[in-house]
Amino acid sequence: MPVILGIESSCDETSAAVYADGVMLSNIIANQIIHEAYGGVVPELASRVHQQNIIPAVQQAILNAKVSKNDIDAVAFTRGPGLLGSLLVGVSFAKAFALAKNIPLIEVNHMQAHILAHFIEDPKPSFPFLCLTVSGGHTQIVLVKDYFDMEVIGHTQDDAAGEAMDKTSKILGLPYPGGPLIDKYARLGNPNAFKFPEPQIPGYNFSFSGLKTAILYFIQNNEAKDPDFIKNNLKDICASVEKRIATILLNKLSKAAQAYGVKDIALAGGVSANTGLRQGLLELGAKHQWNTFVPRMAYCTDNAAMIAIAGYYKYSQGDFTDQHVAPLARMPF
Ligand code: KG4
Ligand code: ZN
Repeated sequence: MPVILGIESSCDETSAAVYADGVMLSNIIANQIIHEAYGGVVPELASRVHQQNIIPAVQQAILNAKVSKNDIDAVAFTRGPGLLGSLLVGVSFAKAFALAKNIPLIEVNHMQAHILAHFIEDPKPSFPFLCLTVSGGHTQIVLVKDYFDMEVIGHTQDDAAGEAMDKTSKILGLPYPGGPLIDKYARLGNPNAFKFPEPQIPGYNFSFSGLKTAILYFIQNNEAKDPDFIKNNLKDICASVEKRIATILLNKLSKAAQAYGVKDIALAGGVSANTGLRQGLLELGAKHQWNTFVPRMAYCTDNAAMIAIAGYYKYSQGDFTDQHVAPLARMPF
């Protein structure tokens, strides 16, 4: 079995992983805390921090995996979608490494990799399955027919679910990234305290911009009457917003599962770390006799393990990339 080095640098996590013999031997993730001060990812800064982090992350991944650089058979890297400057660091590193070691280069689509993260460990879904991929930049329902045969059957028309979480937390005065904080406060609040609207979008598509505006006006109106409104209701607001976002996502997922007659249902992407969404999926799964799949947390948010596993399947198919490859900010399946 080949030893695959995975590299991920599409947004604000620099990550390297080593996969061999059916085991993810390491998965190093260097988070970029620099963006906290700006309330969101600053692309130019992200790119510079990737430059600082990439070599230490790879060295650590190789060390933790207890392999040598010379054992590596191929380098898989995220080609896109993502921030161009960030992607460029990972792509350039992967190309240089592959050239120096004279080993194959394998490009990976970041969104496909989020889905293929389900194949790192057991239990694994069976084809065809539906995957709700929810991150800071994407919200998609994907019909996964095979490892690299995937069809996006629904997507967001504006903001992503993670963006809705992060923008809500910004309105509430919480630091970036807000998703995990909304999750934390939501556990302590009443999800039925406040009612936010569910957008009526046809098919399996999503929209979160109207919800974001509704939340903004709701907060502004209440703060005008009571300057301590957020302070006194933070947990209930977070619980109610989380519940609405989770219901929007899960209602569309149910509709798709029914229409496509699929019983294996998976969650992927950073927002799949959300407790309310995970619980909601489990409850729906029990109701509809679905087999539900959610990767462990470290494989939900951006990580190179998912790039390494995707690289492994491409290696098995002999699907390699040549040295002239350039990153793609937008990269459809
Ligand atoms: O997949 P990911 O790590 O990066 C992108 O490709 O975007 O997803 C990051 C998103 C952010 O919006 C973050 O707030 C959200 O995932 N997130 C969460 C949680 N953990 C991360 N949202 C809600 N609850 C969480 N526990
Ligand atoms: Zn991602």
